[in-house]
Amino acid sequence: MPITTVVFDAYGTLFDVNAAAMQTAKDPAHADVADIWPALARDWRLKQLQYTWLRTVAGRHCDFWQVTQDGLDWAMEAHGLTSLTTRARLLELYRELAAYPEVAAMLATLKQQDKATAILSNGSHDMLQGAVTSAQIGDVLDAVLSVEDVGVFKPHARVYDLIGIHFGCAKDNVLFVSSNGWDAAGAAGYGFQTAWVNRAGEPMDRLYASPQHVLSDLSTIPELA
Ligand code: LAC
Repeated sequence: MPITTVVFDAYGTLFDVNAAAMQTAKDPAHADVADIWPALARDWRLKQLQYTWLRTVAGRHCDFWQVTQDGLDWAMEAHGLTSLTTRARLLELYRELAAYPEVAAMLATLKQQDKATAILSNGSHDMLQGAVTSAQIGDVLDAVLSVEDVGVFKPHARVYDLIGIHFGCAKDNVLFVSSNGWDAAGAAGYGFQTAWVNRAGEPMDRLYASPQHVLSDLSTIPELA
């Protein structure tokens, strides 16, 4: 089936989730994170994601901004960080994360190919709007879809259902793109054609389905669509 609709995960896929800690670390006002920012960013992300899965399993949903703060609080405590100013700066930067360098041109090429383009993310509507605006990619996206409309996190099938509901397309008309191995597996298991963007050279997740494509960045997505 031809690809009509190309849908992207947001955090880690279009937007660099490590950028907030990396940028904070460069600021002399936040010397407390200078040496530990990679581990802080890793633990923050890991806890943020674990909290999404645990809350979904437990039926205790809250929005992604809450788990983002809760994950940061866990990670800061684990690394002995107590500064409320550092906490505030990390969260401020998380709302305006940089997009990876190839994102804008890749999305523009998909639009030239007449593909529908969208974000489907755990992020709440206001978080996603902030990130899309600061990355200046709103004009090359047809939709920004949030799990908040179904009240569960990925990889619940009700989240992936949002794409068919919004675009009226069949599952195999969709190319779903994620840097998160578990999200790529979830989307492949759901029935989308799937590309995993494995920037970090990680092993493939051992889950119930595997992505059809494995890429090192987003630049070749238009060749798959
Ligand atoms: C998202 C998370 C998984 O954007 O990064 O949905």
